[in-house]
Amino acid sequence: MRILILGGTTFLGRHLVDAAAARGHEVTILTRGRRDPQPFPEVERLRGDRLTDDLAALDNRTWDSAIDTSGIAPRAVRNTLKHLQGAVGHYIYLSSIAAYEDFGLPGITENDPLRPPLLDDQASIETGDDYGALKAGCEQLLGDALGEQLAIIRPSLIVGPHDPTDRFTYWVRRIAQGGDVLAPAPPEQWVQIVDTRDLAAWLIKSCETGRSGVYNVGNPEKSLTLDKVLDECARVTRSDALIDWVHEDFLLEAGVMPWTELPLWIPAKEAAMRGFTSMDTRRAASAGLKCRPLAATIRDLWAWDRSRETSLKAGLTPDRESQLLEQWRMNQARWL
Ligand SMILES: NC(=O)c1ccc[n+]([C@@H]2O[C@H](COP(=O)([O-])OP(=O)(O)OC[C@H]3O[C@@H](n4cnc5c(N)ncnc54)[C@H](OP(=O)(O)O)[C@@H]3O)[C@@H](O)[C@H]2O)c1
Repeated sequence: MRILILGGTTFLGRHLVDAAAARGHEVTILTRGRRDPQPFPEVERLRGDRLTDDLAALDNRTWDSAIDTSGIAPRAVRNTLKHLQGAVGHYIYLSSIAAYEDFGLPGITENDPLRPPLLDDQASIETGDDYGALKAGCEQLLGDALGEQLAIIRPSLIVGPHDPTDRFTYWVRRIAQGGDVLAPAPPEQWVQIVDTRDLAAWLIKSCETGRSGVYNVGNPEKSLTLDKVLDECARVTRSDALIDWVHEDFLLEAGVMPWTELPLWIPAKEAAMRGFTSMDTRRAASAGLKCRPLAATIRDLWAWDRSRETSLKAGLTPDRESQLLEQWRMNQARWL
């Protein structure tokens, strides 16, 4: 098959290229050329900018399938549709769990309401605000234009090698380093993730079958907890880490930012976010999405992380973690 990837050089896109090549497909990627595409000498590389409608490279071409990983802004989607309408037989759009309106309850299904779609993105894309509403806007534009040719994917947290956000990577690196590790209580809070390679393999198979419809993606609802993740990190990295489970009220009072400064953490008291880590993902599982064992994700992520020398974009700095642990130990009676 001929597959066009709108994106392809950061994270999921790279794994899509790998997965497509492994299945013998002809791959074209379209990017602005700002990132190093060297891992893929065999891939056709088109230059273009979806935001400025600099997309002549797409004209007079056809593909069997397109996978859109770079559509954050409705403007980008609108521009792309002008050039691709009638030129692709099938289209997969990477949306997000963030497109849903209400995370108050676990078990969000694909039929739950989305945020009011934002179709004019001029202000929001610069700041990263309104990400979910922009995704809902992109979904709407694509749905109107493509109908049954379209599959919409709403992933939970995507994890694995080349993750530019470092959110899951923080825990792997931190546990591997050992010693006293600060973690947000309660240990049994739900975690929902998908390994980027599992998602990529399933998306390429979805191109082959022309899959349409909407799919939540992540490990099965309520199958994974934070303590299981951290235990598995310790087992895989053979770490002596000792976890100090710290009360969330202490962390919030100390100004620790959930999700970014302590990745995977959604405070239990934030009732409006209770469903964020426990979507219903049965539809994708029935459609063949397979999640590899957590240990395999951690092992490969750890190997990749050790191959680069960089400080992390997410998680506590060592100084901040030890200060917080010290304060916690002196004052914990107040919180227990
Ligand atoms: N990470 C998560 O946990 C998560 C969760 C849910 C959903 N998602 C969604 O999953 C998708 C995956 O993103 P990814 O970064 O992994 O994909 P990717 O395909 O690996 O990287 C994004 C690509 O888009 C290109 N790009 C960016 N802006 C562009 C523009 N204006 N015109 C043309 N190309 C452009 C970038 O290259 P250049 O910079 O060179 O142009 C890059 O190749 C995203 O849509 C994201 O919203 C992610």
